[in-house]
Amino acid sequence: MYSDIKVLIVTEEAPIATDLQDRLSHQFSQITHIFASEVRREISRIQPDIVLLHEGADGIGMQLIPYISREVTHVEIIYLTESKDSIRIRDASRAGAFDVLFFPDEINAIVDVLSRAVKALKAVSARNRDIAEFTWGRGQVIAFYSGKGGAGKSLIASTLAQSLQLESSCSVLLVDLNLQYGGIETYLQLESNRNLYDLTPVLRELNDNHIRSVTVVEPYSQVEVLTSPADLEIAEQITEEHVERLLRAARLYYDYILVDLPSKMTDLTYTTLEEADKIYYLLTPDALSLRILNRVLGAFNMIGIDPTDRLQLLLNRVNRDSEIGAREIRQRFAFEIAGEFRDDLKKIDQAVNRGKPLRTVRNERNISPFAKDVQKFARMMLGKTKSIAAAKS
Ligand SMILES: Nc1ncnc2c1ncn2[C@@H]1O[C@H](COP(=O)(O)OP(=O)(O)O)[C@@H](O)[C@H]1O
Ligand SMILES: [Mg+2]
Repeated sequence: MYSDIKVLIVTEEAPIATDLQDRLSHQFSQITHIFASEVRREISRIQPDIVLLHEGADGIGMQLIPYISREVTHVEIIYLTESKDSIRIRDASRAGAFDVLFFPDEINAIVDVLSRAVKALKAVSARNRDIAEFTWGRGQVIAFYSGKGGAGKSLIASTLAQSLQLESSCSVLLVDLNLQYGGIETYLQLESNRNLYDLTPVLRELNDNHIRSVTVVEPYSQVEVLTSPADLEIAEQITEEHVERLLRAARLYYDYILVDLPSKMTDLTYTTLEEADKIYYLLTPDALSLRILNRVLGAFNMIGIDPTDRLQLLLNRVNRDSEIGAREIRQRFAFEIAGEFRDDLKKIDQAVNRGKPLRTVRNERNISPFAKDVQKFARMMLGKTKSIAAAKS
């Protein structure tokens, strides 16, 4: 018995409807009958899974096949015709009928045909579920890295997390893996006594509730933040497994997982860089910064981190007197410069000293040039994500 399948019989002849209902009643519990003239009014309300469309003496019915297919997303239409005309069969299948039965000669086959239609429907819904599952769980892990301390990793990661959250309905998780004097707490003025190490007992079964139990919500933007432990002894007990399991689970529940990394190449840094879908490498426009980038690329090569198609450069603290411009960087490195952020010492210091984050509300006016650059960058990221989502659907 298929109790979840809605069968709709469309015929002008009530006795035929009754006969079909009798034949199918032991297999289907939801059977409705309407007349062809009622289809346009009723079809969207009924939303049948299977339609038995009886052609009727005047031959109308064929045009209803494409109409019903359009109005109902997943439907199988079985066309019942009294004329044994091969052209009509061909036209009905071209129009999108699942099968054609000669009526009344082949009526005994109806149970069989319906079983096949049910199977086809289930296959479609399984495929859709696969697509849904594929989209679900594809949150992006984005690592912020630089071989040079003070390049702006923590500031950009936290301001970008806020901007992404304020500019969209996406869910954003910001993870601070600096483990010592993280930095993110300073920019977002957060305190927390919970951290990644507290997840140890549930590490193998992490879900969103577990993750939420150790994060703090930044009150202005609602970004969820996982701060690093203040206690160095605890920090030292955090392992690659903590990081790997956290990032993999977080992918299921968040759209963006931004990870602020220390410059030091620790096991945790390595694991994050391996796991990341994207690595934003922070570069300030000076010769030293470029030299360090060169060394980092050499080190990546040695330890087996492949930056191809993943690493993009973010140029930070750009100003009129910058020692090196984007052009020179492009000439020397094969990596795209994904964004540029202006030097904005006064406004940033002011915000930090006042204990207020750089971004506090949606559609904020008069934000600092730096915050504006981050906002622009966030919008660009969101635009790209949207077009991927649109292409998938
Ligand atoms: N675009 C910028 N303009 C002015 N100051 C900046 C800018 N980016 C970063 N800073 C400052 O540089 C310092 C280091 O930034 P931070 O994000 O903590 O670096 P990292 O995390 O890479 O070590 C901070 O004092 C920060 O306020
Ligand atoms: Mg930092």
